[in-house]
Amino acid sequence: MTRASQKVASPRVVCIEDLRPLARRRVPKAVFDYLDGGAEGEVTLRENCRAFEEVTFRPRQSASPGVGLRPCPPLLACPCRIQPSDALGRRGGGGRAAGKAGTAYMLSTISGHKLEDVKAGSSGPVFYQLYLMGGRAAAEAVMERARVAGFAGLVVTIDTPVSGIRERDYRNGMKELISGSLLEKIPFLPQILSRPGWLISFLLDGGLPALPNVVIPGKGPMPLVDINAALARSAVTWADLRWIRDCWRGPIVIKGVLTGDDARRAIDAGAAAISVSNHGGRQLDGVPASLRALPEVVAAVNGQVEVWMDGGIRRGTDIVKALCLGARAVLCGRAYAYGLAASGEAGIARAIEILRADLERTLRLLGCPSTAALDRTWVNVPKSWEWS
Ligand SMILES: Cc1cc2nc3c(=O)[nH]c(=O)nc-3n(C[C@H](O)[C@H](O)[C@H](O)COP(=O)(O)O)c2cc1C
Repeated sequence: MTRASQKVASPRVVCIEDLRPLARRRVPKAVFDYLDGGAEGEVTLRENCRAFEEVTFRPRQSASPGVGLRPCPPLLACPCRIQPSDALGRRGGGGRAAGKAGTAYMLSTISGHKLEDVKAGSSGPVFYQLYLMGGRAAAEAVMERARVAGFAGLVVTIDTPVSGIRERDYRNGMKELISGSLLEKIPFLPQILSRPGWLISFLLDGGLPALPNVVIPGKGPMPLVDINAALARSAVTWADLRWIRDCWRGPIVIKGVLTGDDARRAIDAGAAAISVSNHGGRQLDGVPASLRALPEVVAAVNGQVEVWMDGGIRRGTDIVKALCLGARAVLCGRAYAYGLAASGEAGIARAIEILRADLERTLRLLGCPSTAALDRTWVNVPKSWEWS
């Protein structure tokens, strides 16, 4: 066991917030801020977590003990473009850890890991998150690869017509760190050399490769330096979604919906599930917390497709509140990313273990027999949240 994994396994790491300082100590500042930060004033980032505090529980005491989470835990690992710290998990480590913990994993388009390797390494369901950067020909090729590799579904993220401005990244010089000349990288040496454990894992993992899943016909894998410009040219339209549905033919999750109108459009475009998400507060700052947007979307969908949500999940109580407001599953981004940055696969496993134990305990404390029995009657929601 490495020192980093001993730390995450320590009895003092009792909640996700305890993983955050470990992550901060293990990775360079620029990498930590990339994981931790949000867009512009980070208002939506903060709101995502704060909204959970506004919802309170209505427990039913002295109920008979519940059976818990079965048949399957409503917890999935979000697609996260965590290229520089992805390296901490070794090739496909995120998918492997999630699979071992019985959780589905979503591989981002902007991962340095080949989708076939991630799928082969994971014992659980894996989804491929699709951006259209690279154009339709590249998308068609990756969908075919994902189909052959046995991916469970496609997650199409629709909230990224251009990358949000994450001010911490600009201040930290993330652009120069990734795409600058050797001379421009010199100022980063002290923070990188002060994290030797991270540096070794990062180099063993192949450093910053091109994107092996965005293969441009006639050109090869897209270089990392081209990502932001490519994203700005690849907004996903409703017409694109219909085209994707025709190409893919398997289940499609549309991620990044925040209103009832968009939810209805997503159903028309062929979504099998909708994920209420504001990209963890990393895109348009000033949109509502995902939890606040959830009731409107659930009402608009009216049971036609499953509704999932992500944004601000740090505790099992958060998961239970989201399920009470109509989500069928939640996706975790930073919760597992802190674990990954703190200690690779062991850190992800610890994060999932914490959330699952929290979830089971919360159900017992509520007096609720299973996640399937959760609904609005188990919570108090502020009057101002009501949507009809
Ligand atoms: C470092 C980082 C990278 C992300 N990269 C992607 C991505 O490539 N594709 C995507 O759809 N969402 C991406 N997201 C958003 C997550 O999938 C998810 O919506 C968000 O993290 C949920 O909020 P939470 O971090 O509070 O759990 C990223 C989030 C983080 C923190």
